[in-house]
Amino acid sequence: MLLPKNSHILYSGDEAGFLSKLQELWKPYEDEKAKVILEHLGGAESLLDLGCGPGQLLKRLTGKVSRLVGVDESEEMLENAARNCPSAELVRTKAENMEFREEFDVVVTSQMLHEVKQFGAAGQMDVVLRDIWDALKPGGRYFLLDHLDPGEGKVTIRLRQDDALLREFVRKFRYRRVQLIKLGPNLYEMEKRDLQDFVTKTWALRSPMEEMEMEETHAAFNEEETKEIVRGAGFSPGSFITLTNMGKDLEDHGMELQREPPWDRKFLLISSKT
Ligand SMILES: C[S@@+](CC[C@H](N)C(=O)[O-])C[C@H]1O[C@@H](n2cnc3c(N)ncnc32)[C@H](O)[C@@H]1O
Repeated sequence: MLLPKNSHILYSGDEAGFLSKLQELWKPYEDEKAKVILEHLGGAESLLDLGCGPGQLLKRLTGKVSRLVGVDESEEMLENAARNCPSAELVRTKAENMEFREEFDVVVTSQMLHEVKQFGAAGQMDVVLRDIWDALKPGGRYFLLDHLDPGEGKVTIRLRQDDALLREFVRKFRYRRVQLIKLGPNLYEMEKRDLQDFVTKTWALRSPMEEMEMEETHAAFNEEETKEIVRGAGFSPGSFITLTNMGKDLEDHGMELQREPPWDRKFLLISSKT
């Protein structure tokens, strides 16, 4: 255990316990993430999943990579990871305190780096990226999977159900002020970013995760920004792959876009330590 005393942990008992109940609901998304990562693993024999959470990725990579290591700062998350993936080595530490040296062919951060960006102290992301660099073997690859910023612009949405949940989100979301414009019966206009945050955060409303989710955005990184971030840490950015289309989320929320097709809301950027 490599945790300084009093360090702030984002997911402790209540949050981790609540999230473990949602694992079944999120299975299709976990399957999709693992599939795209597996497609690009090549002959990797060692992989570090940094911010592994309850070990859903590690579980899906079992038997495909000889050495699997999961790191997380949350004790409760690692307890779930141990149940989901008993064969992985699990280490409790903050990313910025890792001490691996040239041990891995691949390091993955899956929906972890946006938390460092939004909740971390100034300069923390640079330290995390340096630790990822150090953990990789020469020629190793960093897989950055996270929430994609859909960019500026408004969309028109037809809502097939009552707008109570949408109004609750507008009232509670604190990361930025959401403007919801009613254009007609069941017809609304809002920013793409706000719509993406709405459909990806309704699960958190009235739960132990509400406070944290209402303070951060899932419109987290755009392509140029991510490439700049990894270049700044010495990596050579390569493929940028988008995934997780909003179509299913909109369907689940009884929503339909009026003018444009639904977009992909996550990305995987693969960079090399060359
Ligand atoms: C949103 S969850 C993502 C879990 C999993 N990787 C996934 O794709 O679903 C973010 C995880 O990163 C961990 N985390 C966040 N910041 C961290 C840090 N600085 N050091 C170690 N773990 C961290 C959290 O405890 C949490 O388990």
